[in-house]
Amino acid sequence: MANSTTHTTGQYRASSEIAERFLAFFRERGHREVAGAPLAVPGGGTSFIIAGMQPMIPYLRGQEPPPAPRLTALQRCLRTDDADAVGTNGRKCTSFHMLGNWSIGDYGRREAITLALALLDELGLDRSRLWVTLFGGDEALGLPRDEATAHEWRRMGMPEERIVPLGAEDNLWTMGGPGPCGPCTELFMDRGVARGCGRESCLPGCACERFLEIWNLVFIEYEWLPGGTYEPLPLRSVDTGMGLERVAAVLQDAESVFETDLFMPARTRLGELVATRGREAPPGRSAPSDQTDTARLERAEARARQMIVDHARAALLALLAGVGPGHDGRGSVVRQLIRRAARQGRVLGLEQPFLGELLGPLATGHGALLTPEEQARVPELARLVTEEETRFARVLTVGLRELARLAPGPDGLVPGERLFALHADRGFPPDLAAEVLAERGLAVDWSSFARAREAHRVVSRASAARRFGKEEHERSGQRGDGGGE
Ligand code: ALA
Repeated sequence: MANSTTHTTGQYRASSEIAERFLAFFRERGHREVAGAPLAVPGGGTSFIIAGMQPMIPYLRGQEPPPAPRLTALQRCLRTDDADAVGTNGRKCTSFHMLGNWSIGDYGRREAITLALALLDELGLDRSRLWVTLFGGDEALGLPRDEATAHEWRRMGMPEERIVPLGAEDNLWTMGGPGPCGPCTELFMDRGVARGCGRESCLPGCACERFLEIWNLVFIEYEWLPGGTYEPLPLRSVDTGMGLERVAAVLQDAESVFETDLFMPARTRLGELVATRGREAPPGRSAPSDQTDTARLERAEARARQMIVDHARAALLALLAGVGPGHDGRGSVVRQLIRRAARQGRVLGLEQPFLGELLGPLATGHGALLTPEEQARVPELARLVTEEETRFARVLTVGLRELARLAPGPDGLVPGERLFALHADRGFPPDLAAEVLAERGLAVDWSSFARAREAHRVVSRASAARRFGKEEHERSGQRGDGGGE
């Protein structure tokens, strides 16, 4: 039960209801609803869709006419860059649902902010807990402070102390590289001091759990050119992204996105699997010797539970988009997600494949966010995940055993050639090995890893050349023997 220092909102709403209300709200206000784009970007480039605006880029640039000047959509996104942060805080997911409204050269700041506040009211989010950030300007980039946005927030009654100017890193939104971009204003819910770090300086943008960013309104005005300059775009547009998982966490008063209705059935199933199949203590783990040790283990297990459901969900969405586990490109991302989640299973003492069993409960948690056709495919995809996990299980067992024996050298680093040998001989992924070692506070000497890899290449090339020479010799011998060619 929330207390007065953590309580943030009003009425409970299911995630699918939040999504439907968002889209209906904008449809009723003249926005055309468009289907989210497939998660896998055709032809590669960015491997997966990372933001709702990506399919809108030609409209934002004025290269193509939009289907309507006002649009709304629910877009599935997957950001591999965020995978490492999963489990370190309650807000980052590898995959997520972004709800958005767009004005393509139509309305600007005033209407975007007015609409956002009206929807927050309709959803029952407590306005007195709302804080906003905006772009404070950047002299080096030659970009001014976003005074127009500050003016609009004041006009809507936002108290001055809850309008926080931040730098380009936080409030000049880009796709992480050249492309349409612009100053943004981010909406945060204050989830209460009890969830926070307690520092005087704690404000939206702080890494702690007090302020949760739920919505980003971007005023797309520039094209960031590959040379590093910003060129004004022909249209001034609005691009917004609301994180469904985060709004659900607030409205459901959940501690993290992983305690929302989307994930709870999978969390429950995982708990059952750990209770029935988990071993008391995973190999390599000694019994906790004191309170610090116990707290460390509890943190590792809490992180493991979050990583498992996060990675299983990201894999599910990628599989639904037709991306199966594989060696290269997007397929390797799916494979890595499955392997990392399988490894976290070992932290909970799960020795046998278990991930496939979470896909059904994940689909239940997502309800109407998956189409009936997608729901029907889940059992088949669960089998695929189990097969992949089964293939990896032995490599994981052997690799973890060997990693447990590794110790740092005199320089304090784990010799990289040992990781390379584990990779070359046993197929154990070096990035996963590094992750396992990092959990023990150990770092890897990557320069010796690179040397071992290079030495291996030289040897392989030489033996391939020898083999090739031999085959050539045999072939020419055969030609000679057979004669007549
Ligand atoms: N494009 C903006 C974002 O991804 C809305 O945050």
